[in-house]
Amino acid sequence: MSINEILTTTPVVPLVQSDDPETAVRISRALADGGLKVAEVVLRTDRALECMQAIADELPEVIAGAGTVLSAEQAEAAMRDGARFIVSPGLDEGVVAVAREHGVPVYPGTMTPGEVQRAFNLGLDTVKFFPASIAGGVPALTALSSVFRTMRFMPTGGVTPKNLPEYLAVPAVLACGGSWLTPADAIGAGNYDAITQLASEAVAIAKQSRAG
Ligand code: 3PG
Repeated sequence: MSINEILTTTPVVPLVQSDDPETAVRISRALADGGLKVAEVVLRTDRALECMQAIADELPEVIAGAGTVLSAEQAEAAMRDGARFIVSPGLDEGVVAVAREHGVPVYPGTMTPGEVQRAFNLGLDTVKFFPASIAGGVPALTALSSVFRTMRFMPTGGVTPKNLPEYLAVPAVLACGGSWLTPADAIGAGNYDAITQLASEAVAIAKQSRAG
């Protein structure tokens, strides 16, 4: 299944942050057990790309991509290591170009109409909306989507189980991303059941929001 197909049925993208491939696989397995089969492995540790590869090797049902991709060089490295998608906090044309050269979906971060318009004129049909809560949350997204009528958004930053239904109720939202599904304290304590529980809860919320 492609990432867009997965996100259409399960519109939630969990962030995975680890410096240990084995731990990253455990986190991802726990998320997949709860029904979330996408992992945005953020490049915020030295071994993040190894973590992404380990997930891809050991959990073939999971689509593992790279997040927090800041430069074209990082995007190239992520491509070499098999990233299935690329997420950036901001809109960088070099990152977008590398992903497109490789035919991989890329979701650059946007926060303002100017940034969304630049993404639109680069030919992108989906952008990350980041940091969603600070950028104006649901009212801002609704306003942006009334102007950029074909653009789909991936709000991330401040998304919680409480506000997830409101974000998913915006028709232009493809999926929501966030770190609430992979709390550092649960990982530190080896409590992977808690992660499965959070994933199941998010899947249930998403089903209900999208059914309504
Ligand atoms: C990101 O990288 O997209 C954000 O750090 C996620 O924000 P959150 O921690 O509020 O979910």
